[in-house]
Amino acid sequence: MRWALFLVLLLLGCQEKKERPKVNVKELVGIRGCPYCHDMRRPLLGPSFLDISKRYGPEDLERIKESILKGSRGRWGEVAMPPQKVTEEEAELIAEWILELKKQERRGSGR
Ligand code: HEC
Repeated sequence: MRWALFLVLLLLGCQEKKERPKVNVKELVGIRGCPYCHDMRRPLLGPSFLDISKRYGPEDLERIKESILKGSRGRWGEVAMPPQKVTEEEAELIAEWILELKKQERRGSGR
C-alpha cells in the first residue's frame, strides 16, 4: 500500500504548486448563457457587449455588476434583462471584462 500513499502525496503536491487558474471570462460568459441575448458587436435582444463597454467607464464597475446580478431595465430599450444566475465574483469578473473590451477594439482595428 506504500505506493498508494506515495500517489496521494504526489497528487497533493501537484495541486499545491498549481496556481489559481486564470478564468477565461469569455468562456464563462458563454457558459452562463449571456450570448443568448448579447453578441460582442451586434445588438440582439440586449445591447452588444462592445456598446456597453463604450457607454461606461471604470467608475461604473459597480453599476454593471449590479445590472448583471439584479437585472436591468429602461437603460437601452424596451426589453429588460432579468437577474442573471452568476455569483458576485463572476459578476465582477465579467463587469471588468466588459469595460476592457473597448480597449481591445482600439488596439485591434487601429480605429
Ligand atoms: C434574456 C436576455 C438576456 C440575457 C440572457 C442576458 N442579458 Fe444582459 N441585457 C439584456 C437586455 C434586454 C439588456 C438591456 C436592459 C436595459 O435596457 O436596461 C441587457 C443589458 C445588459 C447590460 C447593461 C446594463 C446597464 O446597466 O446598462 C449588461 C452589463 C449585461 N446585460 C450583461 C449581461 C451578462 C453578463 C449576461 C450573462 C450573465 C447577460 N447580460 C444575459 C438581455 C439579456
